[in-house]
Order: sequence, then C-alpha cells, then structure tokens
Amino acid sequence: MTRQPILAGNWKMHLTKRKASALARDVAATQGMATGRECMVFPTFVHLDHVRRNLKGSNVKLGAQNCWPKKEGAFTGEISPYMLRDMGVDVLLIGHSERRHLMSESDALIVEKVKLGLKAKLEVMLCVGETLEEREANLTFEVLARQLKALKVVKPIYFDKISVAYEPVWAIGTGLTAAPETAQKAHQECRRVIGGVLGPEVAGSIRILYGGSVKPDNVSALLSQPDVDGALVGGASLTIEQFGPILQAAPSA
Ligand code: 13P
Repeated sequence: MTRQPILAGNWKMHLTKRKASALARDVAATQGMATGRECMVFPTFVHLDHVRRNLKGSNVKLGAQNCWPKKEGAFTGEISPYMLRDMGVDVLLIGHSERRHLMSESDALIVEKVKLGLKAKLEVMLCVGETLEEREANLTFEVLARQLKALKVVKPIYFDKISVAYEPVWAIGTGLTAAPETAQKAHQECRRVIGGVLGPEVAGSIRILYGGSVKPDNVSALLSQPDVDGALVGGASLTIEQFGPILQAAPSA
C-alpha cells in the first residue's frame, strides 16, 4: 500500500497577519513544484481567512489548530468545527500535546472533538505522543494505545478523512528529534493499535506523521522509515527558508 506523504506546518500562536499571508503565498508557490505529496498549513484562527485567500489556486490544504465540540451555542470564546468548515478550512488538528498538557484537554474531550470535526465534514489529524517521564517509565506504548482509542468513534464513511501525528512531547520545540529508528518503532506500534481499533485496511492506508523538532537536515531520514508518512512541523515551518526544503525533501536512500 503506497501512502502519499503529508508535509504539514503547525504555525501555533506565531506570525502576524501580513507574515502569515506572505508565508502562505510562498508555501503555495513551493508546493506547486512538488508532486506525490500533500501539504497543509495550520495558522492561528484569526489568520485563517487571510491565509485561505493567499493559498487560493494552490492544492495546499488549510488547517485549524483546535475547535470546540459543539455545533453552536453559548460557548464564549470558542469556535465550532462547522464555523471552520464554513470559513473554508479543510483539516482539523485535534489533541495536540500543547492542548493536552497546557490546556488540560482530556481524552474524553478529544473524542468529542474528533467526532464532531468529522461530522462537520473536516478531515481530522489526531495528535498522540508520550512525555519524557512516560517514556522513561516504559509507558510509551500504553500511552499511545490510550490516546489512539479516540479513533473508536470514527465511522467507516470517515476512514479516509483521518490521519495521526505521533509527536513525542520531549521532542517538541526542544531540538531533541526522535532518532529515525525510535520514531519508526512508535509509528509501527500506532499502526498496530489502529489495526485493532479500525481494522487492518485502515491501518494499512492511514497516514501517520512524525512531529517534534523536524528540520531540513533530519526530515529525509525520518521520511525514509517505512511507517513514517510525513511530518508535522512547528518552528521550522515558520519561514520558507526552512519549510521550503522540508516540503521538497525526499526519503533518504
Ligand atoms: P517543533 O517542530 O517546533 O518541535 O513543533 C512540533 C509540533 O508541535 C508540531 O505540531
């Protein structure tokens, strides 16, 4: 089964309206030269519309970093996946470690977000990953299995709308990229668990991205691992000088 890689930029709470728009234009121009891969960017909510306009005419997908799992209602300060869809968003990032750990999002809340995001006709990228303490206590696979259980709610009609990002918390923003073999072991385990939750066919076709200090000089080695189907990039996605080479990187031989 060949899985088309996804190269994605999570811009987190960075950039100005002008910088995000300019970066979107540069990403669209760079991606135009790449084939056989998908590209997506996740700007902050308030930049979504500007970025959307600057991606117009390209095949770069527009992503949102979060949502609230209700269609509408009295939820001051929150944003519904239906509003995001209406805005032209294609993909929703759910369960990013910064939301799990800094905003105390629970597995139960994440399940609701996955469910409603898909119902709102968005693609969903579910983020999973262990902390350093969990890795050192040999709990990595246990944590991944628990977090991946959120996929249980995915109905067969949405099977081709989901992807997973494995982002070990200790590798995010630290420069401590997981060694390609370490990433491969975790990805392989994620695929095995997904097979148990959604069946072998989905396990074979779902894209599992790696995230955590991905840079132009380590992306090829990561992409060359058999179960690594792309990268979710934070810091290095904020300038075209770094994100450009990542978008065009090929697996190393
Ligand atoms: P960094 O690439 O900055 O480590 O961030 C990774 C990440 O959290 C992407 O979602």
